Amino acid sequence: MGTPSVTPDSVVTNRFTEEGEPLPAALVTDHLSFSLPYRAIFEQVPSPQTVELLVDALASLIVQLHLSGFYWGDVSLSNTLFRRDAGHFAAYLVDAETGEIHDQLSRGQREYDIELARTNVAGEIMDLLAGEHMQQRLEEVGLTPEDVDPFEISDRLVSTYNNLWEELTAEESFALDERWRVQARVERLNELGFDVEEASLESDDSGQVHLRPRVVEPGHHSRRLLHLTGLDTHENQARRILTDIGQFGQALYPGLPEDLTAQLWMREIFVPIMEAVPAEMRRKLESAEIVHEVLEHRWFMSEKAGKDISTDKAVKDYVKSQLAKRPDEKDIF
Ligand SMILES: Nc1ncnc2c1ncn2[C@@H]1O[C@H](COP(=O)(O)OP(=O)(O)OP(=O)(O)O)[C@@H](O)[C@H]1O
Ligand SMILES: [Mg+2]
Repeated sequence: MGTPSVTPDSVVTNRFTEEGEPLPAALVTDHLSFSLPYRAIFEQVPSPQTVELLVDALASLIVQLHLSGFYWGDVSLSNTLFRRDAGHFAAYLVDAETGEIHDQLSRGQREYDIELARTNVAGEIMDLLAGEHMQQRLEEVGLTPEDVDPFEISDRLVSTYNNLWEELTAEESFALDERWRVQARVERLNELGFDVEEASLESDDSGQVHLRPRVVEPGHHSRRLLHLTGLDTHENQARRILTDIGQFGQALYPGLPEDLTAQLWMREIFVPIMEAVPAEMRRKLESAEIVHEVLEHRWFMSEKAGKDISTDKAVKDYVKSQLAKRPDEKDIF
């Protein structure tokens, strides 16, 4: 349905235990490359901010699923997989066992899903913090389990979900001569990463116009970047790379059309970055994430040096000082 989820490969039926007891059917899905379970992410960087980034990604996933009429029925962090997305995360639905597809979800269905999410997530974070190993990890970075509040975080999931849902679907009213506000709303939705396929405008007797954006589809920036460069990325990675293409064009090729600038950026920035990464290190992160990290690294080096550092120099330093130390994330289970 175009929503972020793992894809089914096969179904195994007629399963029995060794003693001959019947077992339910099993669904086999394709392994989602570069995906990480929430525990693995928290273990790497155990901090309240990490959990906040995870629940923000989960809230955005739930909104996308609800917009497409999918009721999850068992939202939880462990039924979700995460991929790195330029310092944030992109969430994927992994366990849809309890899911239902409807034309449209009622407010009650959405609220039920999100209430269950609140309970499950609070419980999962409590579990996460209770583990001896995690407490040790927290101690290593100078934190205690009390620094991460499971209820505050699960409340954040609900409020992030509600704000995003409101922003995407709320009806807006304005006077007839304020129709520029349609464009403003569309731009705001684009900025959030959603495309508006149809916006219904209705006027009433009092001369007010009511605007309700209809079908909203996520991936605004990643579609634009794909169109310009052929790069398949997540939304924040695309945002980041589009900004870099813009700055690159302004500095070196002012006035050149965007599509040509993008081609030059690919040749002069992207390709050299990827060439500088040894083949055996490509399993560590997705290409777009490596590019994002190199651009960040270039920025930090430039700030430290008080002058612009070349991408070439930045990528060499990045590979040696950062990437080499990272684990392979391509096939984590
Ligand atoms: N396609 C996939 N790619 C990568 N990892 C996956 C994939 N499918 C499942 N996993 C991993 O397995 C975990 C459990 O998957 P899932 O929730 O579907 O199984 P389950 O039988 O419902 O287990 P549980 O009872 O723990 O929920 C996920 O959290 C994820 O870490
Ligand atoms: Mg599950």
